[in-house]
Amino acid sequence: MSTAPLPANPEPSPGPQHVAIIMDGNGRWAKARGLPRVAGHRRGAEAVRRVIRGAGELGIPVLTLFAFSTENWARPADEVSDLMGLLRQYLRNELEELGRNGARLRVIGDRERLAPDIVRDITDAENRTRANTRIDVNICINYGSRDEILRATRSLARRVAVGELAVDRIDEACFERELLTAGVPDPDLLIRTSGEQRISNFLLWQCAYAELVFVDTLWPDFGKEHLEQTIAEFRRRERHRGRGMVAPEPRSAGLARCDVLLFDRGVAGAALVAPPAVVRTRDDPLDRGLRLGDRRRRLFHRLAGRRRQAGAHHQPGQDLVGPGRRHVLFCGRECGVWPGLRRG
Ligand code: FPP
Repeated sequence: MSTAPLPANPEPSPGPQHVAIIMDGNGRWAKARGLPRVAGHRRGAEAVRRVIRGAGELGIPVLTLFAFSTENWARPADEVSDLMGLLRQYLRNELEELGRNGARLRVIGDRERLAPDIVRDITDAENRTRANTRIDVNICINYGSRDEILRATRSLARRVAVGELAVDRIDEACFERELLTAGVPDPDLLIRTSGEQRISNFLLWQCAYAELVFVDTLWPDFGKEHLEQTIAEFRRRERHRGRGMVAPEPRSAGLARCDVLLFDRGVAGAALVAPPAVVRTRDDPLDRGLRLGDRRRRLFHRLAGRRRQAGAHHQPGQDLVGPGRRHVLFCGRECGVWPGLRRG
C-alpha cells in the first residue's frame, strides 16, 4: 500500500458529503471462523483504516464511525476491555496514517466514563491531526443519541430557567449547537453493515434526512469497493425532501454583495441570510488556532453539506462563482473568493 500523503481534493465532492457508518458484524465474522470475538474487533480496526483511506480517495469530506455505544458497556467485561484496548492502540498508533490520509480526527461521545489515559490520548490525537483538511473523521466512542438529546434539552432548559434564553428562541440551529456533533454537517448517507437494519441510537437527530443503506457485508470484510457501491446507490436515489432550496437573501446594503456568509456564532448578520447559506465556525472548537486557509477549506466542505441538506443538487462551487457570486464573508469580514475557484 502506498504511503504517499493524499493530496488535497481539487474538486468539491458531488456527494455524499458526510457518510456515517454503523460498523456491525465483528462478532459474527469471528464466530464463523471459530475465533474469539476480539479477533473480529481486531479485523474491524483494520477495516477502519481501509475505509478512512478509501473515503479520502473517494473525496468524501466527512466520515463518522460508530465504534462504541453507551449500550456497549453492558457487554461482557472482557470484551469491553478488549475494545478499549483497541481504541487505545488506534489513538496511539494511527496518527501517522491519519496524517498521510489528510484526516482530522474528532472523537464524539461522553468522555466522562472513559479511562483518563484514553481521554488524554483522544485530546492528543485531536490536537495532532487538527490541521489536516482532506477529510474529517469522527469516531463515536461512548456515544448514545438519546442521551445526547436529553443533555441538549437539559442544557437549554437550564438556560431558559435562568432567563438567558427565551423559549420561543429555541429552534433547530439553537438545539444543534447543544449536540455533541455541533459544527459537523448532518450525514447524508448512513450505512450499516452485517445485514441488520436498525439505527441503534446512532445520530437520531442528525440522520433525519440521511439516505439509509444496509449492506450484508460484515464490517471486517468492508472496504473501499463496498463504500463505492453504497455511494453509487446513494447517487441513484432520488432525493425528495419536501422543501426546496432556500436561496440566501441578504437584506442589508452592506451584505448585498455577499452570496455566502461564513461567520462566527453570534455575529449580527445571522438573521440576514437564510439558514442553508450560513456556516457557523465557533461551533467547532477544533477550528480554533487553524490557519485561515485551513479554516476556509473546512468551512467550504460544511457549506457543501448544508446546501445538499437543503435539497440543492448543484455543485457547491456554483454557490461561490459566477457573475456577482464571488464574495464570501468570513468571520464578519469579507475575505474574497474561495482559493482555486474560477472567478465569474
Ligand atoms: C459491532 O459488532 C461492533 C462493535 C460494537 C465495535 C466496533 C469496533 C471496531 C470496528 C474496532 C475498533 C474501532 C476502532 C475505531 C479502532 P458486533 O461485535 O456487535 O458484531 P456481531 O453483531 O456480529 O456480534
